[in-house]
Amino acid sequence: MKKGFIALVLAAGKATRFKSEKIKVLYPLLGKSMLQLVLDCLFQLKPERIYVVVGYQKEEVIGSLASQRVEFLVQEEQRGTAHAVLCARSILEKESDKTLLVLNGDMPLLQPKTLNSLINKHHREANALTFLSAELEEPSGFGRIIWDETLKPRVVEEIEATPSQKKLKEVNAGVYLFRISDLLQTLPQVSPDNKKGEYYLTDVIGLMAQAGRKIGCYKISNPEEIMGINTRLDLEKATEILRKRKITSLMEKGVTFYDSSTVWIDLDVKIGRDTTIHTSVIIEGKSVIGKECLLYPFVHIMDSKVGNRVKILTSTVIEKSVIEDNAQIGPFARLRPHNLIKEGARVGNFVEMKNTIFGKKSKAGHLSYLGDCEVKEEVNIGAGTITCNYDGLRKHRTLIEEGAFIGSGTELVAPVKVGRHAYIGAGSTITKDVSPEALAVSRARQIEKPGWAKRKRKGRS
Ligand code: UD1
Ligand code: CA
Repeated sequence: MKKGFIALVLAAGKATRFKSEKIKVLYPLLGKSMLQLVLDCLFQLKPERIYVVVGYQKEEVIGSLASQRVEFLVQEEQRGTAHAVLCARSILEKESDKTLLVLNGDMPLLQPKTLNSLINKHHREANALTFLSAELEEPSGFGRIIWDETLKPRVVEEIEATPSQKKLKEVNAGVYLFRISDLLQTLPQVSPDNKKGEYYLTDVIGLMAQAGRKIGCYKISNPEEIMGINTRLDLEKATEILRKRKITSLMEKGVTFYDSSTVWIDLDVKIGRDTTIHTSVIIEGKSVIGKECLLYPFVHIMDSKVGNRVKILTSTVIEKSVIEDNAQIGPFARLRPHNLIKEGARVGNFVEMKNTIFGKKSKAGHLSYLGDCEVKEEVNIGAGTITCNYDGLRKHRTLIEEGAFIGSGTELVAPVKVGRHAYIGAGSTITKDVSPEALAVSRARQIEKPGWAKRKRKGRS
């Protein structure tokens, strides 16, 4: 009895019911494609090799799995699931003493535990075929399993089924373990004599049963796992199930949610203990949020790293940035890609930053734009400060040294440098470097005309 197995994932079909130009299996659910989710499940079981059958939009599918431990087989014309398995014929002929796990690439909710149980049953019973089934209240869309009086199974596809067969609730999940030698003997007998003119892999079940080969069926206890994504409605339902799974696992790790039904957290996101998440928060990609953080409503974080005890206030957007411990961001702040906000810094209302390093304990409280900028420690950026970093052709950098004080309404025309502890008077347009400890002011002196307003009113200004 050999425990090692080879896996074959079917992902060549166009999926007409999904009504998309893009191949269905590449659609993401909480940051991961359907196919990736199936593969992640498989990786945990450590098969000897994983093959993915590709066809429709094969370049895109292959590209999406670059540098992962999978190999590809091309099914040029998609003539059915049995035809897809036959693409592996030459490989299977060399491995005929082994076991093959075949599964559809459109079932992203499947869990490794279930596959493990299926594999164990297959070996325990020394079957030629063991397949996964489920009892569904709403079986439409699936092939139905029919057991004859001698308890031999066969599968009838939904479009071939009679009205009474359609009422059957036990369905074929689309996951099969085969003894390869038995599969190779049976596959050539599958004919495309059906409504779709396709070679159905499901016919193998009936054919093997008729030939007296030993067949087992593992009925899953949690039928949501076998959901196949055929339509946009299925996609939404499956995403919701994954969303809840993710939130539950975060709660188990010590994260608090005020109303998790409004929160979206991608599957790869990590969040530390005692962090609290208010309503309507979205955290995407490979973001990592530390411990004891507070995320207020409408915060949207993408591919970012947030330290411990960070407060992110209402309606803040953060993309591809790093925020160190004890910082406070928002409300209404926008961090565009590539910022590093250092420990204890504050970024306040309507502040936009891009490609900026913002020093320890520095503050930019209100209405500023800092782009391509390096701000050292304990700098104060006054309200309305703007880096003029783009001359129409190129981007230029601004450097603000430690302890500098930038008055409100300053324009920093880059490239430009403000020295340590320098002051800039409010409303200045700074075009030249400012020396350390200096005061730079570049605005017109104020003039005053006494009584001017009164004379104007009387028409004599
Ligand atoms: C299939 C099963 C059905 C089962 C259901 C479970 C068959 C004939 N039917 O139906 O009994 O209840 O899955 O979800 O197998 N594919 C290829 N090449 C092809 C055709 C399909 O690689 O030529 C791939 C698809 O990309 C997809 C998978 O095989 O990932 C299943 O194909 P799909 O058309 O979705 O089959 P269903 O009609 O859902
Ligand atoms: Ca399907």
